[in-house]
Amino acid sequence: MPEINKAVFPVGGLGTRFLPATKAIPKEMLPVVDKPLIQYAVEEAYAAGIRQMIFITGRHKRAIGDHFDAAFELEYELEKGDKQELLELVHAIKPDDMACNFIRQPRPLGLGHAVLCAEPVVGDEPFAVLLADDLMLGRDQHQGGTTVLQQMVQAYAERPGIVLAVQDVPRAETRRYGVVDVRGVNETAAEVFGMVEKPVPEVAPSTLAVAGRYILTPGVFDSIRRQPRGAGGEIQLTDGIAALIGTEKVYAFRYDGKRYDCGSKEGFLEATIDLALADPKLGPAVRAHMMKALG
Ligand code: G1P
Repeated sequence: MPEINKAVFPVGGLGTRFLPATKAIPKEMLPVVDKPLIQYAVEEAYAAGIRQMIFITGRHKRAIGDHFDAAFELEYELEKGDKQELLELVHAIKPDDMACNFIRQPRPLGLGHAVLCAEPVVGDEPFAVLLADDLMLGRDQHQGGTTVLQQMVQAYAERPGIVLAVQDVPRAETRRYGVVDVRGVNETAAEVFGMVEKPVPEVAPSTLAVAGRYILTPGVFDSIRRQPRGAGGEIQLTDGIAALIGTEKVYAFRYDGKRYDCGSKEGFLEATIDLALADPKLGPAVRAHMMKALG
C-alpha cells in the first residue's frame, strides 16, 4: 500500500469574513498566538510523515510563499545578533527535508477545483488535503499525543481508501458542512454510503460533518472533473468524493481531538484563548487577565 507523501493546502479563498484584516494578507497568515494558521496545518502534515507540501494559491497570496521561503536578511541579522533561539524558530518553518510547491488557481471555482489544480504535482498517488482554517489539535498532542492527520494516516494503513475526518455537529448546523451517511455510526472508521455538501437540516443524512482533513486517492481527480457545479455554484470536493462511493471505499474517521473553526471569528478567538492558556510562558498571565476582565 502506498504511503502518504504529499499534502495539498487549498489557500485561494478570499477570507472576506475577516475583512479588513484580510484585505492585503491571506486569511491563512492570520496568527493564532504567534504562528500563522497555515503553519499549524503544515506542521500537522509534517508530523504525519509528509514531506511535500503543495499550496493552491490565488491572488494576494504571496505572503504564504514568502513564509515558507528562506529569509536571508532576517537570518543574517539574527545570526549576527547571536539570537540562536529565534534563528532556530525561523529555520523550523521549513525544515531542510521539506519541499514546497505553489500552484496558482486561476479562478476561485470551489474546493473541488482547487484540489484538481494539484493533479500535475500529486500524480498517481494517495495524498492528504488540509484546510488551514480548521485548526485541529489531537488530544494531548503537546504531551506526545498524535495529531489528527497522524491518526488518519494510521487509519489509512489499516484500511486503505478515502479517509474523511468527521465530527458530530448540532443538526441546525449541517448547512455549513459536507455531511456523510454512514452505517455503524459509532465505529471510529465507519464506511460512508452517501455524502452531501451543505444540506439543510431537514435533509441532512446524519449529523456527522466533514472537518477539513482528507486522505484521498488519485481517482478523485477524474471524478471531480466530471462534476457539474454544486452547492453555492462551486465545483465541490464533496461531490467528487460522493461519486466514487461504490467504486472506492470511503471511510468517515472520528478523530480524537478538537477542531477550531478559524474561518469564523468565534472559532478563531476560542483557538487563540485555548492556545494562549496552554502556552507555558503566556498561560499564567493570560489566565490572571481573564479572571480580572470577567470580574
Ligand atoms: C469545506 C467543505 C465542507 C467541509 C468544510 C470543513 O467547506 O466543502 O464539506 O465540511 O470545509 O471545514 P467550507 O468551510 O470551505 O465552506
